[in-house]
Amino acid sequence: MSSIIFRRFLADPLKIAYVVPSSKSLVRRVLGKVDFQRAKVVVEFGGGEGCYTRELAERLAPDARLLVFELDAHLAEHLREQFRDDDRVLVYEKDAATFRDELRELGILEADYVISGIPFSYLEPKKKKEILHAVHEGLKPDGQFIVYQVTPELKGHTRMFAAHEVEYFLANIPPMFIVACHKSENTLQPKRRKKPRKPSRREAAHT
Ligand SMILES: C[S@@+](CC[C@H](N)C(=O)[O-])C[C@H]1O[C@@H](n2cnc3c(N)ncnc32)[C@H](O)[C@@H]1O
Repeated sequence: MSSIIFRRFLADPLKIAYVVPSSKSLVRRVLGKVDFQRAKVVVEFGGGEGCYTRELAERLAPDARLLVFELDAHLAEHLREQFRDDDRVLVYEKDAATFRDELRELGILEADYVISGIPFSYLEPKKKKEILHAVHEGLKPDGQFIVYQVTPELKGHTRMFAAHEVEYFLANIPPMFIVACHKSENTLQPKRRKKPRKPSRREAAHT
């Protein structure tokens, strides 16, 4: 258990919402959904003590940017210290809902990926809606919003996305749902895309 997380959890349990960081295998499974060849702008919500941030920084291209939003001042500072020498990584001690403003400040219109570990199920419905609409608007047409959470409830609030892939991942304490929301169906794994309907004999005869 990480001592900084435990201390921050005791200070504000509903905001921090965890005591054990995501396991290495969950981090790898979530980030396995990212195409690092094309990921030039990645946004992370709820960086915590940095288990995803470190792996992202390891795998992102030298010309990529990673914007990390962490509401808790102590955890944001802990993240900043870890990435002091990596100018691709920007840590914001701000609400995830503000991420588009920060992208604009950098002259960036849209992100390739938003990866989120914030406790959506604890958010007020209005706040949840605000963040989800901002994410949909702030992603490139082939962008993805990837969420890991203890419940799959978010899928019911992300109908603005063209498609979803949901996985239940057991090798973590607690087990997590990984929900990948695709802005376009083109980024779905080929086997999951809807097959084009075969024309009937009559339709085929008229073509
Ligand atoms: C469940 S933890 C996930 C931490 C880490 N990514 C992991 O998986 O081990 C959620 C983190 O999100 C942060 N958080 C909660 N609400 C947030 C918000 N609206 N904007 C940014 N960060 C937030 C909390 O402070 C906490 O560090």
